[in-house]
Amino acid sequence: MKVLVVGGCGYIGSHTVVELLKNGEEVVVVDNFSNSKRDVLDKIKKITGKEFTFYEMDATDKEGMRTVFEKETIDSIIHFAGYKAVGESVSKPLLYYRNNLLSTIVLLELMKEFSVKRIVFSSSATVYGAPEKLPIRENAKISTTNPYGETKVMCEKILSDFVRVNPGYEAILLRYFNPIGADESGLIGENPNGIPNNLMPYIVKVANHDLECLHVFGNDYDTPDGTGVRDYVHVTDLANGHILALQKPLEEGVHIYNLGTGEGYSVLDIVHAFEKANGVTVPYVIEERRPGDIASCYADITKAKEELGYLPNKTLEDMCRSAWNFVKTETKTEEK
Ligand code: WQD
Repeated sequence: MKVLVVGGCGYIGSHTVVELLKNGEEVVVVDNFSNSKRDVLDKIKKITGKEFTFYEMDATDKEGMRTVFEKETIDSIIHFAGYKAVGESVSKPLLYYRNNLLSTIVLLELMKEFSVKRIVFSSSATVYGAPEKLPIRENAKISTTNPYGETKVMCEKILSDFVRVNPGYEAILLRYFNPIGADESGLIGENPNGIPNNLMPYIVKVANHDLECLHVFGNDYDTPDGTGVRDYVHVTDLANGHILALQKPLEEGVHIYNLGTGEGYSVLDIVHAFEKANGVTVPYVIEERRPGDIASCYADITKAKEELGYLPNKTLEDMCRSAWNFVKTETKTEEK
């Protein structure tokens, strides 16, 4: 099977390309390096020992993307190419609507033109907003509070309406909870530019003395220790969820799956697990709540388990250790 991975040099995209190649699939990667680094290409080859085709291109460039569909006989698409910083989406909404929606529309138009029947879309638990019931099931109410989340809801709607009027086509929407960790090689991982928005990359920078201390956004939530609870899932488990989605017999229409672990951990759980797994200290201070944050969010993954055979098996210790191993490997490489 030849899989087109759009945004395949990003954090989740690169880990999925690694798992696809390890599974013997043919891979074509498109990326414009707007939120990734070119050296990821060589790292993927080093990890897997496999070759793959790469096009440096913006997924919103329809004429450019058409050349890829003309040159490559694509069986399925995985669409990762979306901007994903919640805070940035609030200050630059048009950038997010244009990039995240137009890239999806371009891919669907070309899917129709070249009869590519299946697309797997990178969605997010952010579409659930503040959940009414926990754990969260796929039929839970949709409500988002920021432009980033709105783009995910809108893309899900665009994909659903496309397959509704195109018999034989399938859209698989994977709603990620909180991906963390890194490939066991330590060669690829999450390495955002500047000050990280997300918890784990921030913890890693504090442990590595790149940042002074972690700011814990609120300890007065209605949770066991008062800090925010999330469903952290190892990025390799998440990547394998995509492989399973592609291996499922094609079934027209839209299919939605939560990809998490079903376990909720608080901010302080993560801090303590990281310190224990890596023998480091992560100093922190308690701050005010971050606007827009919710108290608790964790998945019911029954549907993915039953229909895809999804079974996340990495532990919290694996997630913490692999995240640290990636930074230590990066640091060693930079020092050479
Ligand atoms: C996790 C917990 C914070 C940083 C976001 C997006 C979501 C997805 C994942 C793209 C919360 C706390 C964090 C810090 C802290 N991204 N925290 N200090 O907000 O659950 O989800 O990233 O798909 O769409 O919304 O993840 O890692 O930012 O926060 O205390 O410096 O850690 O309050 O409780 P979040 P996060």
